[in-house]
Parts: sequence; C-alpha cells; structure tokens
Amino acid sequence: MRVTVNRKAHFNAAHRLYRKDWDDHKNEQVFGKCSNPHYHGHNYELIVSVTGEVDPETGFVMDLKKLKELIYQEVELPLDHKNLNTEVAEFRNLNPTAENIAIVIWNRMRRKISQDMDLSVTLYETPRNFVVYSGS
Ligand code: NI
Repeated sequence: MRVTVNRKAHFNAAHRLYRKDWDDHKNEQVFGKCSNPHYHGHNYELIVSVTGEVDPETGFVMDLKKLKELIYQEVELPLDHKNLNTEVAEFRNLNPTAENIAIVIWNRMRRKISQDMDLSVTLYETPRNFVVYSGS
C-alpha cells in the first residue's frame, strides 16, 4: 500500500523578478511589484510530499523526523533569510519565481530521498498563490 506523507515548513526570502535583457518598463509590465529593483520579501510556505510503500516493520513510509531534517538542511538552511537572486547559486541566472523555486527545492530534495519513492513539492508564495512540482 502506497501512502503519501507530508511535512510542512516555512522560510522567508527576498527576491526580484526581472530579465536583464528587458528594460525596467517591460520588467514592471510583466512582473509587476515583484520586479521592484530594491527587492522585497515573501513568507514562503512549503509542503514536501513523499509517496511510497508502508514498511511493514515500522509502519512508516519514511521517518518524518528524517524528512524534517532533510528539509532543514536542503531548504531552510540555504534559503531562509536569503536574497535568492544574489545569495543562492541556482538563481544566479534563473528568475526566482515560485515555479523555479519549487523546481530548485525538488531537485535538492530528490537527491536525498530514496528513488523508489515519489516526491512532490508544493510552494505557497502568498496564502492564495501556490505552485506544485512533481518532477515531470
Ligand atoms: Ni515577489
């Protein structure tokens, strides 16, 4: 029986959405307030979901303490209270949209979670706007 276990986490980070090859007007038109040249912050809410077989010995899909620790090492430590554009290598040449942040988090977590389990990342940029990435 395959079950999905979920762990919620939280981080604050600053970003700016823009393309260097567009002028300020075009960036403002496309990215709105998120293109503010002085950066701004979001309170990101994250749900990491892992789907796998229930281990008959433990009754666990995966130990949630271990998942908590992985999220801390792979997401909170590198992203919390950071300027995503300037301090996080993956966003040096990648717009830190919610979509791309979810992909970066998924890639970081995927390396640490057993390949026989499915992984999905849900990222809320605001209480009403969220994205889901499951690796395809
Ligand atoms: Ni923004």
